[in-house]
Amino acid sequence: MSKNEQLTLEFPKPARVFNKQVFDYLYDYDSRVDLWYGGASSGKSAGVVQKVILKALGDWKIPRRFLILRKVGATVKDSIFEDFISRLTEWGLMPYAKVRNTDYRIKLSNGAEFIFKGLDNPEKIKSVKGISDVMMEEATEFTLDDFNQLDLRLRERKHPQKQIFIMFNPVSKANWVYKQFFERTDPDTKIHLSTYKDNKFLDDANRRRIEQLSETNGAYYKIYALGEFATLDKLIFPKYEKRLLRAGSDELKGVPSYFGLDF
Ligand SMILES: Nc1ncnc2c1ncn2[C@@H]1O[C@H](COP(=O)(O)OP(=O)(O)O)[C@@H](O)[C@H]1O
Ligand SMILES: [Mg+2]
Repeated sequence: MSKNEQLTLEFPKPARVFNKQVFDYLYDYDSRVDLWYGGASSGKSAGVVQKVILKALGDWKIPRRFLILRKVGATVKDSIFEDFISRLTEWGLMPYAKVRNTDYRIKLSNGAEFIFKGLDNPEKIKSVKGISDVMMEEATEFTLDDFNQLDLRLRERKHPQKQIFIMFNPVSKANWVYKQFFERTDPDTKIHLSTYKDNKFLDDANRRRIEQLSETNGAYYKIYALGEFATLDKLIFPKYEKRLLRAGSDELKGVPSYFGLDF
């Protein structure tokens, strides 16, 4: 592998490789914040990883440097890092990638780098310089302050078309992502919504698992199947009946006790 060699990929049958919602924005680098939210298993992670790998392969004067984040470092390896390895393997790029399993870094032969970190160790993040793009996987785990700090980090002049990629399930309107990106409109943010129905690569078992939420938990169904923001007050007992019961009467017997915990 020579240094900084150009790498190109061709996809003669893109429909077999990409979901439509990803393919349509694959080379769209115009938005500062590229936000991907929606239901479970809609292909958000896989799609953004595809987009980011292709961005890394682009013809840039200075090789791109992606900071790929989870809030908690220990979760990086089995999630987003594995997603990158899967896509690089699928696309035959592993011979052109140097993978460092000790500190989770991948360097491509064109000089582009993916650096994986957890934000639970902010000091280590500060030492990473020259970042061109940031990815916040499961962004609802982060805070608004985390986002603002990262946004500031990305103000250096060096790289053109810097982007922050944000992925999450719409768990609650009380979460910072709702306030930041949905309560107001920001011209620098592009919002992509997807659900399991948009993911043609999903197997039947997982599809059924998501659909079954409609029978068990209405709030979860709303979040993980429909990809809609649910409000917290509906999360504990989604199905209940309101009825007046007289104390000491027979009506109270046979009513089971349920306890809910909110946090
Ligand atoms: N373009 C794709 N090619 C192959 N598999 C895909 C593709 N997009 C999604 N998948 C698969 O579908 C499943 C769910 O996708 P994922 O990206 O994890 O969803 P999300 O991040 O929205 O929960 C994963 O097993 C993933 O590998
Ligand atoms: Mg995901």
